[in-house]
Amino acid sequence: MLTVENLSASYGPVRALDSVSLSAAEGEITAVLGANGAGKTTLLRTISGLVPPAGGEISLAGRDLRRVSTEDLPALGLAHVPEGRGVLAELTVEENLRLGALGARGRATAADLRRIYDLFPALADRKNGLAHVLSGGERQMLVIGRALLSRPKVLLLDEPSLGLAPRIVARIFGLLRGLVHDEGLAVVLVEQNARSALSIADHGVVLNLGQVVVRRDAAALVADDALRHAYLGF
Ligand SMILES: Nc1ncnc2c1ncn2[C@@H]1O[C@H](COP(=O)(O)OP(=O)(O)OP(=O)(O)O)[C@@H](O)[C@H]1O
Ligand SMILES: [Mg+2]
Repeated sequence: MLTVENLSASYGPVRALDSVSLSAAEGEITAVLGANGAGKTTLLRTISGLVPPAGGEISLAGRDLRRVSTEDLPALGLAHVPEGRGVLAELTVEENLRLGALGARGRATAADLRRIYDLFPALADRKNGLAHVLSGGERQMLVIGRALLSRPKVLLLDEPSLGLAPRIVARIFGLLRGLVHDEGLAVVLVEQNARSALSIADHGVVLNLGQVVVRRDAAALVADDALRHAYLGF
């Protein structure tokens, strides 16, 4: 569904992404792992057109994304959930969710909202409350739910587990795994939390200094003690 080939990007003299190739298939989760500054966020931002590529190709279902502007991506089926769980704090949970449909498909229907509330019942309980009262885990559910309202084919997630309790991470990741399986979504999951990410991922890609250093099936990565210790810290 999403294919990235030899993608490079720089910030002035800093080459943050150096000829990275990656793909994400329907019904699969590709985990992108690596330490601080490895280039994970830059990879997602370059795919989304927020950082201009210095070279390489990006395609979504065969369509060249380098010629598409960022604001047109949701309508083509690409949703990006940035790091930091940004919500509009003075809007309600439901108003925040509705925003997810706007750029992609117009107005959210009652069925669209019901689908998100079925997936994340905690959001249904708080739908008329202001977004700023949500816990970190609920906020993460809200930003994922908002992205899902655009009905994406490909979902890019940047560090969804950051700062959340392990129990909450397990719950959100379990829901994500079910969603990918049921709906055939293709997910690129950027995480420093390699252990949790690999527990739900099909494939793992490890970045170091902007380059891919390892690419394996998730189970094979977890099983390789030397690789795990060298790159993943668990
Ligand atoms: N806006 C920017 N201007 C200049 N350099 C940047 C900018 N954003 C990132 N960098 C640099 O690019 C490199 C890759 O950063 P990036 O944020 O992509 O890494 P990351 O893997 O997401 O790290 P983290 O795990 O800390 O989120 C780093 O050396 C970083 O300092
Ligand atoms: Mg990052």
